[in-house]
Amino acid sequence: MSTVVHTDRYARVIDISKRVRWEIERDVIRGRRFDYTKTFLPASLSLVDELTFLTPDQQRRLSQVQGRTYAYIFGLVERFIAAKVSDLGRTHAFGDQVAFEAMVRMTDEELKHQELFRRLEAMMAATMPPGYQMTAEPNAVAHAVLGASNWAVLALTLDIELFTQAHYRASIEPDTNLSELWKDVFLFHWKEESQHAVLDEIELQREDARLDKAGRDAAVGDLIHLVGAVDGILQAQAKADTAYFGRICGMAGHGEQMAQIEAGVLKAYRWQYIVSGVMEPRFQKVLFALLDDEQAARIQQALAPLTYAVPARPEMPLPMAA
Ligand SMILES: [Fe+2]
Ligand SMILES: [Fe+2]
Repeated sequence: MSTVVHTDRYARVIDISKRVRWEIERDVIRGRRFDYTKTFLPASLSLVDELTFLTPDQQRRLSQVQGRTYAYIFGLVERFIAAKVSDLGRTHAFGDQVAFEAMVRMTDEELKHQELFRRLEAMMAATMPPGYQMTAEPNAVAHAVLGASNWAVLALTLDIELFTQAHYRASIEPDTNLSELWKDVFLFHWKEESQHAVLDEIELQREDARLDKAGRDAAVGDLIHLVGAVDGILQAQAKADTAYFGRICGMAGHGEQMAQIEAGVLKAYRWQYIVSGVMEPRFQKVLFALLDDEQAARIQQALAPLTYAVPARPEMPLPMAA
């Protein structure tokens, strides 16, 4: 195992983590409640403006259903992230104490983020019509994900933590009808996720140094499998959310439009939870630097069916590396 420890980088993460530290009620929620006259997710994430047959009112409702799923999905992925970071932090316990502290702080922050998203979900559950469905259970997902190699879990985590940056950028695009509370959720979450992405990168490189070609080949297979599992969750949730939206908007009888809505919601979820991170230049730089041509091609091939899932009018995404 590599003994190289990037103490300075871990120390810088701790320093910034202390400076940006926020509290759920004091800084983010501040006594506010959700305003259902507002849009929850920006259109460049929800892609509701691509469903041109929906009225502006219906588009806003669909952004609100997606907002509820945003809280649910983040609560879900942060369950396995916190568990994995806690495990990896333990490996520093009798080594670099700075690295250990950085990982403990990250675990603590992810527990706080889970609490934030649970709070948001409960607030929406209390004020939205009944019938919303969560299709996957966080602990079941965490157990399944944590069966994969550290390398694969870290690569998936890097994707997730980098896409919060893309989501924050989307939330600051001009849109006067965007919920102020949601804008703060994107802002504050991203502030801490930026440091997490640095740790993911260091830990991924540390894991990578332990692998030979065969080990890395297997880890690439694990990563492809994990992305497929995430996509399976997104497919089920897109179906459930479309049915819920159809019921609350009285559209359930419009079969052809409902099929288009489901395809649009799935495209939005693939963009939000997979592709927006994959397209971050940092993700590609870090991941592809670890891979040989054959491994890179396997990943490109696995992602190919998903990369249609970008906004029709792309403002943020950058082209994928060849
Ligand atoms: Fe988080
Ligand atoms: Fe994080």
